[in-house]
Amino acid sequence: MDTQNVNVTVVGLQWGDEGKGKVVDALSGVCKYVVRFCGGANAGHTVHVGGEKYALHLIPCGILRPEVLNVIGNGVVFDPTIAWQEIEHLRQRGVSVGPGNLLISAAAQVVMPWHKIEDTGSEGSLGEGKIGTTARGIGPCYADKARRSTAIRVADLLNEAELGEKIRRIADIKNRTFAALYSSEPMDVEAIVQEFCDYGRKLAGMVANTGARLRRAIAVREPILFEGGQGSLLDVDHGTYPFVTSSSVTACGVPAGAGVPPSAVGRVVGLVKAYTTRVGAGPMPTEQDNASGCRIRERGHEYGTTTGRPRRCGWFDAFAVKYAADLSGANELALALLDVLSGFDELKICTGYRVAGEAVMDFDATALQGVECVYETLPGWKQEISDARRFEDLPIEAREYVQAVEGLIGRPVGFIGVGADREATIVHNTQVRGFKE
Ligand code: GDP
Ligand code: IMO
Ligand code: MG
Repeated sequence: MDTQNVNVTVVGLQWGDEGKGKVVDALSGVCKYVVRFCGGANAGHTVHVGGEKYALHLIPCGILRPEVLNVIGNGVVFDPTIAWQEIEHLRQRGVSVGPGNLLISAAAQVVMPWHKIEDTGSEGSLGEGKIGTTARGIGPCYADKARRSTAIRVADLLNEAELGEKIRRIADIKNRTFAALYSSEPMDVEAIVQEFCDYGRKLAGMVANTGARLRRAIAVREPILFEGGQGSLLDVDHGTYPFVTSSSVTACGVPAGAGVPPSAVGRVVGLVKAYTTRVGAGPMPTEQDNASGCRIRERGHEYGTTTGRPRRCGWFDAFAVKYAADLSGANELALALLDVLSGFDELKICTGYRVAGEAVMDFDATALQGVECVYETLPGWKQEISDARRFEDLPIEAREYVQAVEGLIGRPVGFIGVGADREATIVHNTQVRGFKE
């Protein structure tokens, strides 16, 4: 069935934190389901609504709209500790969360305490070469998923009789490994058994065969929004490996991570910020470790939503974004945080790379060391633009900047973000159902 105009997939086309939370919140107003398909609590998605700020890590951003059914798909690594904290926190703030609006795939992997120990221990032993992970146990949990014999899935949390035995067996292996590798003290295994049996009881009502549920929704054309985590350049296959996360975060990850056919991906909205940021180690060709980068960081409050780390900042890299847009088959872009660029005399956009004076033909995530950026310089604009609600309200230089992005990436910019609030969006050249004029 053609779902091109029914479903929407929102994926980041840079190194994460492109403003997915805000766009997913906006687009979820026209969707019945919002589905996470990759990553886990390494994500930090911010939504500002009604003067309130919400930072969501595992719970999909559709949770702030009562009519939306939110789904944590099988491709997610599910951390019950953080999920439960988030659920309680949302409830305290008056957001109802329960089986009526949140379903968790029985097939999702569970992040266990040993995954966090291994994440921190492994990073510690890498020293200067560390990845700069979020320390949420993401990589070790996906590693156990692939290993199978040491994995625990959400369905296992519901089977108390067998869960204790499983945890004891795996914890024994982990305790022996960690003692040898990191000289760690053994974990309190019985406390873990109690804690995770307890999560099973608390979450049981929300655990479901989410793939089947989504496939039924597809059959009757109920609109689904797939909410990406991270950004394409952090993809385990297509990103700047090994400085990546451990899951498939592009639109290519949707079918496997949600249990739906590829045709269900629908309209792909590739999200970019008007500049580039990156948290953690790894190449970032347009990084500005100077006054321009600092200015972007301070105006954009570029500090990690999950870890609080200062983000590395730099100019918009059209060469990298074009690669990511092609990979996900982006139909249109959403350009976030344009307001952060107000006040610069001039702005630069990277249009390509050179190596030893030779132009690079195709973006190659395996060969970014030593590339030299080719920049186009555009005039900046002085005035603040956060009150603009129509494209015509923007200064001519800002409009030209948007048009330059459209031309270089070869896709229309559907939405322009001019502030953190839900309302601070210009609906521009979009074809997303419910938004196109
Ligand atoms: P995500 O991980 O992609 O959801 O992005 P984050 O929430 O980690 O980081 C994006 C930050 O930018 C958050 O603080 C958002 O509230 C904020 N934000 C999103 N869109 C805009 C925008 O258009 N303008 C401004 N000024 N802030 C924005
Ligand atoms: P959202 O969804 C930005 C980065 C980490 C690190 C690398 C590996 O908010 O855009 P991991 O803990 O996943 O093993 O870390 O990936 N990273 C993110 N950077 N935004 C994210 O998510 C990220 N999730 C992981 O900083 O460099
Ligand atoms: Mg984030």
